[in-house]
Amino acid sequence: MTSKIAVIGFGNIAKAIITPLFDKKLINPKDVYCLVNTKKSLENVRKNYKYDVNIFQAGFKGSEIIWDCKVKLLSVKPQQLKNIIEVEKIKNNNNLLVSILAGVTLEKLIKKFPNHKCIRVVTNIPITVGKGSTGISWGDEITNDQKKFIRRLFENSSHIYEFPEELLDIFLSVTSSGPAIIALIIEALSDGGLSGGLPKKLSEELVMEMILGTVSLMKETNLTTTDVKNMVTSPGGTTISALRVLENKSLRSALIEAVVSASNRSKEFR
Ligand SMILES: NC(=O)c1ccc[n+]([C@@H]2O[C@H](COP(=O)([O-])OP(=O)(O)OC[C@H]3O[C@@H](n4cnc5c(N)ncnc54)[C@H](OP(=O)(O)O)[C@@H]3O)[C@@H](O)[C@H]2O)c1
Repeated sequence: MTSKIAVIGFGNIAKAIITPLFDKKLINPKDVYCLVNTKKSLENVRKNYKYDVNIFQAGFKGSEIIWDCKVKLLSVKPQQLKNIIEVEKIKNNNNLLVSILAGVTLEKLIKKFPNHKCIRVVTNIPITVGKGSTGISWGDEITNDQKKFIRRLFENSSHIYEFPEELLDIFLSVTSSGPAIIALIIEALSDGGLSGGLPKKLSEELVMEMILGTVSLMKETNLTTTDVKNMVTSPGGTTISALRVLENKSLRSALIEAVVSASNRSKEFR
């Protein structure tokens, strides 16, 4: 991968996407030009980031160089997008802009970055450990070679799903907000163990192993959720007693509404 890459907003997710590419030597840090907003972040990257990328503070000397890169990863928060202004000097629509902003549509991106072909990507934080899920919606006129290049940015550290744009909000809700929901479930189940007398750390470890084991069982044996539920729920037993409490507290409905709510929130950024 030889093209120079600009990263507009070198924050958590951008680092999670780019770092594995450096680790696997697919990109040279010298070919990556990163932009942050504050001096604090600039110094933090210089001091603490493990690779020596080209790093600039927005609006300061030298930062315009990012607009010379053919490929740009846009990774500011949606609320910060208004502060990013395309530099007009390039009139070359072979420039690619890959946006990972929640909810910001291709239509909006194309209006804001008329000198770029735009691509919308949704990824999630497990990309940090090479187990991400990445959804891609292509804008118009992206060539097969360009698609191949963009896929390579993500395929080493995530599963790639290519979607029509209208499914990206719900994809984001399930995959990007999902880790927070799962973390909350792990915390709550661990607190259950704690209440029963297990040490906190052990309780958390048991919950995580149980979740990993359940997922592996389902993936390796093609069991459905109903199969698993039936396998561990005996008449008048402990599990049905637990499930009864969850039905009483409407856990299922709460989770469904949580996913729908995150998707609706994503649509509000349009
Ligand atoms: N977090 C997730 O799990 C997740 C998952 C999928 C997608 N996303 C998307 O990823 C995007 C970034 O999220 P994040 O969690 O990585 O946020 P973050 O850590 O806050 O990173 C945002 C970055 O943008 C920089 N920035 C802000 N304003 C700028 C400007 N005017 N010019 C240049 N850089 C600017 C910030 O610099 P300073 O630090 O100096 O302010 C920071 O480096 C969001 O749009 C989000 O929707 C997030």
